Amino acid sequence: MNFRTFILGLAASFGLPWLCLIVIPAMKYQQLTPVAYDKEKDGVEGFYPPAPVNGQGQLVYIREGCNQCHTQMIRPSQLGLDGWYKGWGQDQEGRPATAVRPNVLRDYLGEKYALLGVQRIGPDLANFGWRAGDANALHAHLYAPRSVYDWSTMPAYTGLYKVQKIQGPASERALKLPKKFAPRAGYEVVPTPEAERLVEYLQSLKKDHPIPGQSAVAATPAPAKK
Ligand code: HEC
Repeated sequence: MNFRTFILGLAASFGLPWLCLIVIPAMKYQQLTPVAYDKEKDGVEGFYPPAPVNGQGQLVYIREGCNQCHTQMIRPSQLGLDGWYKGWGQDQEGRPATAVRPNVLRDYLGEKYALLGVQRIGPDLANFGWRAGDANALHAHLYAPRSVYDWSTMPAYTGLYKVQKIQGPASERALKLPKKFAPRAGYEVVPTPEAERLVEYLQSLKKDHPIPGQSAVAATPAPAKK
């Protein structure tokens, strides 16, 4: 093989994926503008996406590197089969119910950064808002993941919490931790404002709103045959 073919081959094997996976999607993403729902067709009012995520919490999420282990992207299923893994959206409780739709570019429109994720070491969080428990349970998980699952490999984000001496009545915000993870007697663990924003962000993660125009297809009954 001559040198020229080698260099060209090298350029193609890196250049093509770069073009298709980074440049083209980035250009498409930049051209997106908010789209209003059509109440008649979509059965929804307002703009897409309807609920912007908590921006401050997203910054904490980025700073702490959560997206190194968590994706926020449900891929389209292979072979055009309907839906992705069941139970990844609002149907978490009664799995398996209807399949969740894959994510589309517009899902990231309300966000300053599209946190698709790097690796899926932890579960996908695209629809975490649907299965998130109350704030206190989420804080307990972030402070001590092994207080929820003893096998958890998620790091403990103790830096987002403050261990303080109980003065007077215990704080309402104090984490309810199992004995093994609780601070010593007379002390309590409370979330910092950053931890509060992060949890609000996690609770706001819902990327399965109906897509404008598309839901109309499912909602309209087929015309009766003559
Ligand atoms: C080293 C990889 C790693 C990092 C970094 C990481 N996680 Fe996790 N995470 C996991 C794993 C593994 C699990 C599954 C076990 C568990 O629930 O503890 C998980 C579970 C979770 C869950 C529960 C998901 C569900 O579907 O029930 C949430 C929420 C979560 N992580 C949030 C975060 C946040 C927020 C950060 C950043 C502050 C973070 N994770 C950083 C690995 C990681």
